Amino acid sequence: MFAARRTFAGIAQTRAFSASARDLSKVTILGAAGGIGQPLSLLCKLNPRVTDLALYDIRLAPGVAADVSHINTKSKVTGYDPTPSGLAAALKGAEIVLIPAGVPRKPGMTRDDLFNTNASIVRDLAKAVAESAPDANILVISNPVNSTVPIVAEILKAKGVYNPKRLFGVTTLDVVRASRFVSEIKNTDPRDENITVVGGHSGVTIVPLFSQSSHPDLVGNADLLNRVQFGGDEVVKAKDGAGSATLSMAMAGARFAESLLKAAQGEKGVIEPTFVDSPLYKDQGIDFFASRVELGPNGVEKIHDVGKITAEEQTLLDACLGDLKKNIEKGVAFVAQNP
Ligand code: NAI
Repeated sequence: MFAARRTFAGIAQTRAFSASARDLSKVTILGAAGGIGQPLSLLCKLNPRVTDLALYDIRLAPGVAADVSHINTKSKVTGYDPTPSGLAAALKGAEIVLIPAGVPRKPGMTRDDLFNTNASIVRDLAKAVAESAPDANILVISNPVNSTVPIVAEILKAKGVYNPKRLFGVTTLDVVRASRFVSEIKNTDPRDENITVVGGHSGVTIVPLFSQSSHPDLVGNADLLNRVQFGGDEVVKAKDGAGSATLSMAMAGARFAESLLKAAQGEKGVIEPTFVDSPLYKDQGIDFFASRVELGPNGVEKIHDVGKITAEEQTLLDACLGDLKKNIEKGVAFVAQNP
């Protein structure tokens, strides 16, 4: 794996890409001591493409860093103190910033119920990213993603450093879940199940497109649809007040970060579903939308449209767009009122 990375770096240099961006891949995790942050830190430490892992949290980040740093992979791990200078140092030079900071759901809560707490956490972290890592790829995990991503965009715009190609809402878990749930029904290997999921990342805004999979017969399977849209609730309920999905989310976040690093190092055809500033429904006043996105050295390379869908799926998409618009507007309004 290390040899493969050197090969990528070599190719990149001969193509005259920036050597610093290729040889050194600093990944920063904000919220690194949390339920998602800790396993995400572990998975990033295991990724040979990551050379420098910076862990920040308002508590315990140096402890998590000390623990993870004993794993015998080459990357350097640093935990930062919860101070403005600690945050700035954690961010400086980052190629990727993952943000799982914030509170998770308890049973009976929707992701939107988290808005009041998480909106200000994400806003303040976005300000720090704008100041210390304005060129980084920003991967927002904190919920409600449909609103926290627009919050980050508004802050970056206000600071004059908004690059729509480098801001991503992490919806990977929806696709991970969809492929797993389909494989359970069809008795297949989930690795072979590519289920496109579009829209947003909560309830009815999560729209799986089974008509585009190898199992179009699954369109109209109400139980499966409900499981994909509300799969997170299964975990919240099972954890009984102790949080939401953390381990599966860490896997999904690490996969997304890995895809970005692969694309940055010259690999072609890297496609991930993600919630981005998208032209697809701007004419309806919807500035962000999750669809299949091809990644490249500059972040977003190509945004795929939803493609051919059935009338039933169109009904789901219509419901999604209505909610999504409100969620996005809520994030934008929050920053306008609480800059
Ligand atoms: P957690 O409560 O276990 O961890 C959150 C961490 O954030 C804590 O360690 C806390 O100290 C830290 N934190 C809070 N404020 C901070 C700040 N200002 N700066 C830095 N760190 C700060 O929560 P968990 O389970 O890790 O979930 C985190 C977020 O991820 C939640 O909003 C949750 O809803 C969301 N989530 C998103 C998913 C997705 O698919 N995008 C899936 C599952 C959860």
